[in-house]
Amino acid sequence: MTRRFTITTPIFYVNGAPHIGHAYTSIACDVIARFHRLCGEDVLFVTGTDEHGQKVEQSAVAQNMAPQEFADRVSAQFRQMQKEMAVSADDFVRTTEPRHKKAAQALWEKVAENGYIYLGAYEGWYSTRDEAFIGEEEVTLHEDGRRTAPSGAPVEWVREPSYFFKLSEFQDRLLKFYEDNPDFIGPQGPKREVESFVRQGLRDLSISRTSFKWGIEVPNDPEHVMYVWFDALANYLTAVGYPDPHAAKAAYWPANVHVVGKEIVRFHCIYWPAFLMAAGLPLPKRVFAHGWWTVEGEKMSKSLGNVLDPKALADEFGLDQLRFFLMREVPFGGDSNFSRRSMITRMNVELANDLGNLAQRTLSLIARNLEGILPARGQMTGDDEAIMAQASLLPDLMAEQIERMGISDALEEVWKLIRAANAYIDRQAPWALKKTDPKRMGEVLRVLYDVIRTIATMLQPYMPDTMGRMLDQLAITENERSFEALKMPVEAARILPKPEGLFPRFVEEEKA
Ligand code: MSP
Repeated sequence: MTRRFTITTPIFYVNGAPHIGHAYTSIACDVIARFHRLCGEDVLFVTGTDEHGQKVEQSAVAQNMAPQEFADRVSAQFRQMQKEMAVSADDFVRTTEPRHKKAAQALWEKVAENGYIYLGAYEGWYSTRDEAFIGEEEVTLHEDGRRTAPSGAPVEWVREPSYFFKLSEFQDRLLKFYEDNPDFIGPQGPKREVESFVRQGLRDLSISRTSFKWGIEVPNDPEHVMYVWFDALANYLTAVGYPDPHAAKAAYWPANVHVVGKEIVRFHCIYWPAFLMAAGLPLPKRVFAHGWWTVEGEKMSKSLGNVLDPKALADEFGLDQLRFFLMREVPFGGDSNFSRRSMITRMNVELANDLGNLAQRTLSLIARNLEGILPARGQMTGDDEAIMAQASLLPDLMAEQIERMGISDALEEVWKLIRAANAYIDRQAPWALKKTDPKRMGEVLRVLYDVIRTIATMLQPYMPDTMGRMLDQLAITENERSFEALKMPVEAARILPKPEGLFPRFVEEEKA
């Protein structure tokens, strides 16, 4: 039976236009989803937009728009951004869709039916920017009288009737769950934070609001709208057709991994599993938190005017170059900084020199010296066998890295092979063999061809367009592009099309 694999991005607030941080999380999930598809798995990759709550309502008001109209506009921008980034999501959940409203209300009803919801009143701090209730002990009082949440966002005092979720009853069950499932939270830093937070004791959680209207109505009490995080987290169930147990996608739950930014780990690793336990539903297998991007050393912000538009970057550097840079620059999980200089360096060194030249040198020799006809495999020398063996190990090495969310480490495995192949071509110098030993030249080029085929196949998840074109140049047909197909050697005498450079060097224009 084909293995199923379900992966999700966070759903994005529609309070502002998408930027590089949103593109990053989407592309990371896309790489993992594509990788699993190429392994032959049946993948469900879900993304979407988080459209309710005070923050979105306030942004709509500031734009003089009705919240729905505003959400429609910004949600479409996120969809468009993902299209521009070649993000191959299978579903896009909007929290204002009827199917989502149904799922969120069904989840609420189930949790209530099981006795975990009660009516009370909330009195305390709230941060609209974080859409989070902030405990007194977490609030910082500044000299000028401002009060802020740990994120730096302002907090305000709210007092309103509210439904509560009995989170306090889940402390022990959560701790036991983390212990029994040591891979549930990754990487280690966030895992330790979550565990210590839970160990300190959990308070019941306010899960409805009455001071504004932009949300999903609480079942049987239209005075209340759901707390936006209860609503938002339920999106993961919407995608699998909850509450219908016979929905076409029902078997895709539980999710294999929720990928999230590190700032929303608490919601995904404490509230979400507790809601699911309360509803008697299976828990996701994993929540993995990645770090944050700064730009030229500064936090991105509208006021600094340094918010990076992914489309503009893709237009300037190339989409696959951008995807590669984002995935390569930082070990997945860590924070990183976007600088033009490192973008250009990686493009020129790793793509143009290392990978581009390897392919271009090999393919142009086959074109020029062998009329584009793929030579047969020959008698292997020790050097040939070593590089071929290294190439044949690559798929498993990468799969291990992807399994542990090592998106960047998996690329390092590819680059080890690319560097080894460049050393091999320099040692063997096939260009010098044309006159002295043309048979051997063909054998060397064939070894290189096979290695490049492996590289191009394995890099498809990261650079789908460019690697598709590289595989075209290798005359690898569409149905020979899966990881499994790598085990089948290509027969000799295939005609390779005329090669073209795929990774131009980027030359920064002189500033006047
Ligand atoms: N709506 C909530 C998530 C609900 S999930 C049930 C939310 N939305 S968000 O739009 O503010 O952020 C979503 C995600 O975008 C973050 O978790 C993170 O993955 C990504 N990023 C936003 N800014 C980022 C950076 N500067 N750097 C890296 N990723 C960041 O939170």
